[in-house]
Amino acid sequence: MRLAETREDIHSITRRWRREGLLTALVPTMGNLHEGHLALVAAARHEADRVITSIYVNPTQFGQGEDFDSYPRTLDPDRVLLEQAGCDLLFVPGQSTMYPFGIENGIRLLASPDLSGRLEGRSRPGHFDGVVTVVARLFNLACPDVAVFGEKDFQQLLVIRRMVEDLGYPIRVVSVPTVREPSGLAMSSRNNYLEPADRTAAGDLNAVMLAAAKSVESGSKDLMGVEKDTASRLEGLGFRVDYVAVRRAADLAPPGPADRHLRILAAVYWRDTRLIDNISAIQVGIPGI
Ligand code: PAJ
Repeated sequence: MRLAETREDIHSITRRWRREGLLTALVPTMGNLHEGHLALVAAARHEADRVITSIYVNPTQFGQGEDFDSYPRTLDPDRVLLEQAGCDLLFVPGQSTMYPFGIENGIRLLASPDLSGRLEGRSRPGHFDGVVTVVARLFNLACPDVAVFGEKDFQQLLVIRRMVEDLGYPIRVVSVPTVREPSGLAMSSRNNYLEPADRTAAGDLNAVMLAAAKSVESGSKDLMGVEKDTASRLEGLGFRVDYVAVRRAADLAPPGPADRHLRILAAVYWRDTRLIDNISAIQVGIPGI
């Protein structure tokens, strides 16, 4: 596996690959890799001839008081995992590579307000602006044919798909289903903030969300009732609920009765750790609609 740290490094390697007619896939990450990230690398290998994984903890997507400083940085073990997973190029840019004019003077993008103003975007103002700003920069540096993202961050996936379409990037976005721990807890670098016993308890989040999906799929039309019941079950289990929402999968708008493909999304706190999860739910049709 090769290592690139600067613009010159990554350009010279990817330029050669393009000349050879090789397709490249980019897997953007913030490191502290787990099996969820490695599933993205596996998908990238399947989609392209060469796989680039980037590791960069992006300051512009963290809000005031969020965990930018304490976010786990584990480059050495990450490198071993990527090597084993068959990644071809690890891109680890420093801040001056990602933001050569500094964070304050660098150009920033705004994520599409219709997609980014709700749910995570409402709880974490500016978060998706930081995400599109850094992902656009990574796209410009790596020039991939394919980019791979996880469904774990479902709203992020939609925001990035929209950016690609809106700005006309010639990049195919591929998504990968959420990889979970045995308890059902979605794997996340932030799970490291949980004690082992808490990790098991936090798996209840997924169980409660699955029950909500079951109720939608068995014909419940009172989606706001489903949201409320799910939130109160979670509170009863000791979670502090930020939001539980049943939304249209395509754009996270409130669903109408004819929308079949829904997504149930939740953000909760277990002690001080913020956890997000989402699952799909198919709404059964109403006769005549
Ligand atoms: P990070 O949280 O490191 O996640 C990198 C990628 O891994 C994202 O596409 C995320 O959805 C995916 N991922 C994380 N946990 C997963 C799981 N359990 N199963 C499947 N995929 C999972 O998301 C970011 O970094 C950043 O916002 C980034 C896109 C890199 C921009 O800075």
